[in-house]
Amino acid sequence: MKPAKLTSLPQWHALQQHFAQTGSQSLRELFAADPQRGEQLTAEAVGLYMDYSKQRVSSDTVQLLCELAEACELRQRTEAMFRGEKINTTENRAVLHVALRAPAGEKIMVDGHDVVPDVHEVLDRMRAFADQVRSGSWRGHSGKRIRNVISIGIGGSDLGPVMAYEALRDYSEREMTFRFVSNVDGTDFVEATHDLDAAETLFVVCSKTFTTLETLSNAQAARAWCLNALGGDDKAIARHFVAVSTNADEVQKFGIDTAHMFGFWDWVGGRYSMDSAIGLSTMLAIGPDHFREMLAGFYAMDEHFRHTPLERNLPVLMGLLGIWNTNFLDAATVAVLPYEQYLKRFPAYLQQLTMESNGKYVTHDGSPVDYATGPIYWGEPGTNGQHSFYQLIHQGTRLVPCDFIGFGRPLQPVPTSTGGDQHDLLMANLIAQGEALAFGKTADQVRAEGVDEALVAHRTFEGNRPSTTILASSLTPHILGTLIALYEHSVFVQGVIWDIDSFDQWGVELGKQLAKTTIAELTAQDLPELHHDSSTNTLIRRYRQLRDSRG
Ligand code: F6P
Repeated sequence: MKPAKLTSLPQWHALQQHFAQTGSQSLRELFAADPQRGEQLTAEAVGLYMDYSKQRVSSDTVQLLCELAEACELRQRTEAMFRGEKINTTENRAVLHVALRAPAGEKIMVDGHDVVPDVHEVLDRMRAFADQVRSGSWRGHSGKRIRNVISIGIGGSDLGPVMAYEALRDYSEREMTFRFVSNVDGTDFVEATHDLDAAETLFVVCSKTFTTLETLSNAQAARAWCLNALGGDDKAIARHFVAVSTNADEVQKFGIDTAHMFGFWDWVGGRYSMDSAIGLSTMLAIGPDHFREMLAGFYAMDEHFRHTPLERNLPVLMGLLGIWNTNFLDAATVAVLPYEQYLKRFPAYLQQLTMESNGKYVTHDGSPVDYATGPIYWGEPGTNGQHSFYQLIHQGTRLVPCDFIGFGRPLQPVPTSTGGDQHDLLMANLIAQGEALAFGKTADQVRAEGVDEALVAHRTFEGNRPSTTILASSLTPHILGTLIALYEHSVFVQGVIWDIDSFDQWGVELGKQLAKTTIAELTAQDLPELHHDSSTNTLIRRYRQLRDSRG
């Protein structure tokens, strides 16, 4: 049976009506009406405390959103994912990143085959390899110990590993250097290698398809760099290159022995793959035990998501609050603001996770949506962002819901001259920002401070700007796993409500396809006849002129 169109569901209409009746209530009014609100509109599980009381919702809103989720069969769709059904309908694939962190002994079937033993077999191989490299028993071609690891990949084959390395740097092997090359801009490769000794460098080439232009170009550059430094002996490749891919044929064609390949499967989406073999560089950096802790964190959130009632379920709440902000408050964006320097790449990682997943304008059956879908994710660590773009969040004309993320204990305590720790200053800012956004400052308050009347409007903050605050004890591998799985599942929740395929990415294809023609036109000896629009034709000509002119 064709699912009912979202906007014709009675539960959607109930939310519209609720919004018409209550949407004008401000956060000031909501907090004044309910002194317990800051304790009640919260949820806590698997080490994460989530305060959503500063979202523009009441418990009735949450109830209605949960009813919408039930009507969209969130529970059934979740179970279908965990059961290995092919819920990625446009690619006819199962979606089983949850199998990557399932403990040994669990059973998850894809086409009649239990995939959990396969996952653990790869994890065991990764562990053995990581131990060899980290202990120094894996040697480079010239017999030197590996001291540098360069991961080459892009998109989901890069953003997760970079983010996790940065996030868990405190747990990493400090005697080794870890770098990441993604961009086809040669600068990325050159800067990553310029001060390294090839004899001590291991490349981990990560590509699900092993056909991606950027990754293969950089892998070729790495190969040439290595051979050049190591005397041109092809045998060197085996000691300095390993591959992570689902495509053994292409790995072999590239010249990497499949004995040095770590596999994963087509049921792992690129942006959901950082806990698969794509995380090999993470394991090399933090060691197998910490990697296992991270997987346990993912799993804890998977279990919470699967078994907790909707109204106390962290990913469900986060997903549904996003629906409310996007579809009822018309917010087009979400700012993710970690008050933790180690999470500096977390917003970039979330950009692919959220926007490649939910940036879709047709539903599963190909009908155009008549509602907004995935918002634009962006962000920077606090407090840096406060001194740049927060002005717009506080006083701009657009509504920017914020996710604040903070920790009780710093990994790097730094005492202040007054006897405290800089971490208190950091967290005071996180807490103050949420308060300022929610409650603002009225014109009367500004006047009471003796501000010149001409400046009162400028110094007034209207407030009523929603945020969620997520707190955890400290940034451990386990907590990182729970945090990532929180966002993964909230993306899933939204995809179910919007009835879109959150697991395909057809939107990235057209540009890649056109680039193939353009590459030929840029690299041909003589300018070929061009058949694009006048702008594209002129840009191609102008680029060639700029490139070829001397002076
Ligand atoms: O272009 C987008 C994309 O297909 C992502 O979905 C993917 O994570 C990335 O490219 C890299 O793909 P691969 O791992 O196959 O090299």
